Amino acid sequence: MLKSDVVKYNSCIEMNFCIDNDTEYQDCWLGKMPDKNNFMLGDGNMDVPIDVTNITIETDRLILRAWKETDLDDFYEYASVEGVGEMAGWKHHESIDVTKKVLESFISEKNVFAIVYKENNKVIGSLGLHKSWANDESEYAHLKVKEIGYVLSKVYWGRGLMPEAVKAVIRFCFDECKLDALTVGHFSFNNQSKRVIEKCGFAFVKKGQYYANQLQLTFEDMKYILFNKDLMYFNV
Ligand SMILES: CC(C)(COP(=O)(O)OP(=O)(O)OC[C@H]1O[C@@H](n2cnc3c(N)ncnc32)[C@H](O)[C@@H]1OP(=O)(O)O)[C@@H](O)C(=O)NCCC(=O)NCCS
Repeated sequence: MLKSDVVKYNSCIEMNFCIDNDTEYQDCWLGKMPDKNNFMLGDGNMDVPIDVTNITIETDRLILRAWKETDLDDFYEYASVEGVGEMAGWKHHESIDVTKKVLESFISEKNVFAIVYKENNKVIGSLGLHKSWANDESEYAHLKVKEIGYVLSKVYWGRGLMPEAVKAVIRFCFDECKLDALTVGHFSFNNQSKRVIEKCGFAFVKKGQYYANQLQLTFEDMKYILFNKDLMYFNV
């Protein structure tokens, strides 16, 4: 186990990055860095594989870690509440079988953190690192970029927990994974997510359209970016 010193990034957040498997840790979470030729995927996009399986990020109130099969009940508890997933483009889970399938995909795809509330050791949300829209655009195509997506159990809204999680993941992506930028988006009506994005220092780029397959609806999508090089100007 390699455990970095506790690093204080600002007055309210302390983070530990704990990475299992000392010797080969870089390969296991960032994936083997492809050589330059392989780095450009078939469609001309550059996407960086990040594997969270052996990552633990700790903040004051939260632990972010990979999903486990035993998280099923906690996941279903918040994902089955109407009006949570719908704000992120997916339908609330109408049965635990749906949750099980999504959980299996989180575990196999290895790019989504479970957010654990330290006080009660419950999984109360998710935070994923996905392929970004920015890599489909020539302006950003040379950058190592990931898109952040997140959902929090309704019971825990309004306590500043998601900004705490997002700030920690920003630090992880920039300091440990050496990404050049992160993107994030919210549907135009989603002021709650907009506030998280603003608190975390992202800059608005443009509006887009997002078709949510599960809801069979098209939403206006507000897209934002945060560059690694700009982080020093913002107190994240
Ligand atoms: C977006 C979300 C992750 C925010 O997480 P959070 O930890 O509650 O974030 P914050 O505590 O910083 O609150 C953000 C804003 O939500 C609003 N808010 C807080 N509590 C609320 C509540 N109970 N009901 C409605 N809005 C609330 C406030 O406007 C707050 O902004 P403020 O701090 O400037 O007043 C959470 O609301 C959520 O999971 N929503 C559903 C899924 C979703 O929208 N995901 C993002 C997709 S882009």
